[in-house]
Order: sequence, then C-alpha cells, then structure tokens
Amino acid sequence: MFGNGKHARGSQITGWGYFVPPRVLTNEELARQVETTDQWIQERTGIRERRIAGPTESTLTMGVQAARRALIKADLSPSKIDHLIVATATPEQPIPSTACMIQDEIGATKAAAFDVAAGCTGFIYALTIGNALIGSGDCGNVLVIGAETLSRIVDWTDRSSCVLFADGAGAVVLQATDSGTGLISSVLGADGFGRNYLEVSAGGSRLPASHETVDGKLHYVRMNGREIFRFAVDKICKSVRQVVLKAGLTPKDIALIIPHQANRRIIEASARALKIKEEKFFVNIDRYGNTSSASIPIALSEAVEAGKVKRGDYLVLVGFGAGLTWGAVLLRWGESPTVSALETYWDKLKTSPFFREIRHAKRRLDRVKLGDWFDRP
Ligand SMILES: CC(C)(COP(=O)(O)OP(=O)(O)OC[C@H]1O[C@@H](n2cnc3c(N)ncnc32)[C@H](O)[C@@H]1OP(=O)(O)O)[C@@H](O)C(=O)NCCC(=O)NCCS
Repeated sequence: MFGNGKHARGSQITGWGYFVPPRVLTNEELARQVETTDQWIQERTGIRERRIAGPTESTLTMGVQAARRALIKADLSPSKIDHLIVATATPEQPIPSTACMIQDEIGATKAAAFDVAAGCTGFIYALTIGNALIGSGDCGNVLVIGAETLSRIVDWTDRSSCVLFADGAGAVVLQATDSGTGLISSVLGADGFGRNYLEVSAGGSRLPASHETVDGKLHYVRMNGREIFRFAVDKICKSVRQVVLKAGLTPKDIALIIPHQANRRIIEASARALKIKEEKFFVNIDRYGNTSSASIPIALSEAVEAGKVKRGDYLVLVGFGAGLTWGAVLLRWGESPTVSALETYWDKLKTSPFFREIRHAKRRLDRVKLGDWFDRP
C-alpha cells in the first residue's frame, strides 16, 4: 500500500488496452442451456451478454493482445519493460507463469515476469506492486495485465454462477513520473476466513486432478452468491472511503469510480451507501459480465476511449473477489509522453509474432553454438 509520502518517485498510466473475444453469448442463448431467463439475469445482475473465448483463444492469447495495445498506446518498446505482472485466476497452465509466456510472445526480453493470484482484486494488487517497484527507484516501466478465461472453469449447468462469468483481458503500462499525476494512494486487504465463499477446490496440491475430482465437478467455480454480495458492498464502500481519505481528498473530488464489474446491483448498492451519484460509477457489465482480474483494466480502457476521463481527473479503481480480497487505487490522470512516429512504428513491429520468430531462431542458433563449445574435446 502507498499514499503515506514515504516514496519519492511516482508512476502513471501511459498506455491502456483491452481485448475481448468476438464470440458473444447472450442471455437468450444461456436460457436455452439452463433454467433461467433474460429477464432474471438482467434484473438480478445487469448482464445482457458476455464474451466467450473460442477454441484457439486463452488467457495467454488475450493477454498478449491487450498488452500489445497498451504498449502501442504508451509508445513503448517491449524491450524497455522492466517488470511484467499478470493478474489472473485462470492462468494458461499451472507452470510456468502466464507472465513468462506473455513476456516471450511480445518480446519483453529484459522484463522480470510473474503472476499475481488475488481473485478478482488481482489487477488492483498488481497495480500496487508495479507502483511500488517504480517507487523503489529500481525500474521505470511496468506492464500490468489482467487476463481471464473463466468460461473454462465455469460449471455450465450451474445457473447461479454460469450467467455471471466471462472472458477477456486488459492491460496498462505504468511509467515513472515526477509530474504529480499518476497513482496517489492505495489500500489492499484480505480475509481468508471467507476462502470457501468462492473457490475451485481441486487441481492443486490438496486435491490433484483425478477421475474422482472430475466426476465430482471439483474443477469448477463454486460460490456463495449472497455472502459475496454482502461482502462486496461493504468492501467497496470501505476501500473507496479509505483510499480517498489517504490521499487527503473527499469523495466530491473524484471524477469517476471504476469498480470491478461483478453485478450491477452491487455497484448500485455501493453508490447508495457511499452517497455518490451512480453516474460517477463506470459500468459495462451489461456487455461483458464478470471478467475477474480483467474487468477493471477493460473498464478503464473503455472509459478513457469514451472520453469519460480527462487530464487532471481523480479516479478510483476498486475491486473485490476470491480469497476473500479487496483493494482500491486512487490516481490522477496524466498524459502519455510524446514519441516520434518512427519509434511507434518500430515498437509495433517489435511486438509482432514475426519478430518473436526471429528472436526464437536467434536463440536456437545461440544454443547450437553453445552446444558446439561444450562438445569440444
Ligand atoms: C449470484 C447472484 C446473482 C444471485 O442473485 P440473488 O438475488 O442473490 O439470488 P439468490 O441467490 O437469493 O437466489 C434467488 C432465487 O433465484 C434462483 N436463481 C439463481 N440463479 C438463477 C438464474 N440464473 N436464473 C433464475 N433463477 C436463479 C435461486 O435458485 C433462488 O431460487 P430459490 O429462492 O427458489 O432458492 C447474486 O447473489 C450475486 O451476484 N452475488 C455476488 C456474486 C459475485 O459477485 N461473485 C463474484 C465475485 S468477484
């Protein structure tokens, strides 16, 4: 957490981008699969439709797309990234981290890379870590990605959860700044007492995959919706109040709140409890459902692109999720640095799959040369 004036250097978001799969799954379609209706889903959650990954799409492919878009927006070459952090509850595979895979795909050759597991609060945790790394003075550029393929861990026969979750990815580039804009304060929290309220119980060290775990549907998400709902409203309100207070501001100073998109009624109830107008909360759950760690960076990117965020605006990003975890970040929106068109073109080229193939060919060649050296008598 930060906002106590202990670090000298700040960080600001200079690039943003998102990717959602083209496949749209509507409520009407879902109503043909499980016992539900479009009316129930819209009234109880605010969701009209969601995006679902196709057979060739996954957390990695979507994370790569979002990362490329954020880098292009920031005019930053991937080779200049110092740390690459991926927030995800649905990694590409258990080992290695999805961050290392994205690092390879986009050519972030000098970046340290790791995943953060903090449920749907993952992006807020990752952003806070990225800011701390920059604040330490050790690095200048951090790529933070939230990417999820929840459709692969949803039980499509469980109507209380399958109507909520969906797929997508969002990313931001964080860069060092002394401009006074950027991340100002954050709060993070966790309460493992509620760890059973939202869980996938098998697939780890306690219950590795077996016929029994598959037959018992233990690789799917199980959730206590009512408990999560109560917890979410409480933590959104507390986190927003704390992060605003820590920055020495009042709720009136905040131009826009970008909450984790889990249920429209959670957002409405939080707005009422905080006595903040609902218009100040950015909502896109109607089109994307709950994309967990990806929901806040997707919403932030859409808000900026829709012109809802202006230079100098104070924003609050706030999340909650499995763990249980929660957190908020308050930031002042700045502007990205200007870079020449030639540099932009070169950067675009470097993130392309073509360049990745060239890098891999070079690495294979290096390995052969090294092999020759070891084989020498
Ligand atoms: C899951 C959630 C939408 C359920 O809404 P709710 O208003 O709390 O509904 P309830 O759980 O009280 O269930 C009410 C009834 O609707 C039924 N129901 C649940 N899902 C349904 C569906 N998709 N369609 C129709 N009926 C449904 C229930 O079976 C229940 O029926 P019953 O009274 O006969 O038992 C809501 O609790 C929620 O969004 N919770 C938070 C979940 C969340 O955000 N998770 C992710 C955190 S990151």
